[in-house]
Amino acid sequence: MSTRKVFQYYRAYQWTDIFAMIRNSRQAPKVCTDRFDGKLVVITGATSGIGYSTARKYAAQGANLLCVNRNSEKSEALRREVEDEFSVRCDCLLADLSSLEDIHRVAHELASLHAPIDVLIHNAGVYLTEQERTPDGLDKVLVVHHLSSFIINYVLMEKLKAQDSARILLVSSEGHRFAAWGLNLDDVNWEKRRYTGLRSYGAAKTSQLLSMLVFADRFRDSGVTINAVHPGAVKTETGQENGPLYRWWKKTFYDPILKTPAISAEALYYCGASTELEHVSGRFFNLTIEEKPAPPARDHDLALALWNTSLELAGLADAAAEHPLSNSILKAS
Ligand SMILES: NC(=O)c1ccc[n+]([C@@H]2O[C@H](COP(=O)([O-])OP(=O)(O)OC[C@H]3O[C@@H](n4cnc5c(N)ncnc54)[C@H](OP(=O)(O)O)[C@@H]3O)[C@@H](O)[C@H]2O)c1
Repeated sequence: MSTRKVFQYYRAYQWTDIFAMIRNSRQAPKVCTDRFDGKLVVITGATSGIGYSTARKYAAQGANLLCVNRNSEKSEALRREVEDEFSVRCDCLLADLSSLEDIHRVAHELASLHAPIDVLIHNAGVYLTEQERTPDGLDKVLVVHHLSSFIINYVLMEKLKAQDSARILLVSSEGHRFAAWGLNLDDVNWEKRRYTGLRSYGAAKTSQLLSMLVFADRFRDSGVTINAVHPGAVKTETGQENGPLYRWWKKTFYDPILKTPAISAEALYYCGASTELEHVSGRFFNLTIEEKPAPPARDHDLALALWNTSLELAGLADAAAEHPLSNSILKAS
């Protein structure tokens, strides 16, 4: 990243934003008590942690679920549990969201659904202390967090716009702040820089937030909103694929101070169902409180550059050439 960018971000950082983040993290999420009967909610990574709690929350409010998971046994157990307990429909699509082939397949399966998708929640995620590459040779953390949601949103754009309304929620993280000085688009796969779990996670979550800015622009006045939600610091299965030292550290020191994913589910329900947020788009929420993300995640020039990089990585550049981006609208926002 250039010195000019670092200086630009440095000037944009404010202590008041950090204090606001700490204050917001301590507040209980706002609650939406409205029912969601008969609506369709698509959620990725519903077999564990936040995704599992959120799936149950929507089902408890009457929504039908379409879950995108990688594990067939866990998916079947989830389907049985949700259908028995809540008398709603719970279908599952199987996809490894680190594989471009699977992501494109599932995106097209969703695009060909006849039913409207009322809420689409991009939740699946991984935290890796050692870098892993996908079968496509890409950084796994970047693909699961950013490229999977990017491709699915991109392929679904026309379907969602044709509906009366839809809400997209990105399960984001305060961890996006680990990319404190922005992204290096010349090295998105961490081939030239030292990889660490925190840096790759921060970059992937920042990338997802930047894509939100462009999608919000593309969905403007269409009835489709897209927002990002930090789901709280909660106890889940995250990090279990890391080594024994990390797992011991997490279990001993981190897990005891974490909250229950029930608060994440409550927040993701509020952001997906509350009428208060019906027309709100392109925002970052700490649970249910709107908050300013870090300066790199608000950088519109970077968002546009990343959009083109993401199209290339996703193999969507040719399709995109038919619908070029209107830079002027985004910059004016
Ligand atoms: N926990 C926190 O405190 C926290 C804080 C901020 C943000 N988040 C975000 O919350 C989201 C959910 O994380 P979590 O904490 O609930 O972790 P988790 O318990 O590990 O759940 C992750 C979910 O993602 C699925 N998943 C992972 N890799 C996948 C892949 N390649 N393809 C398809 N599905 C995949 C997992 O499937 P399996 O069941 O098959 O493993 C699981 O269902 C993530 O985006 C994370 O970054 C979490």
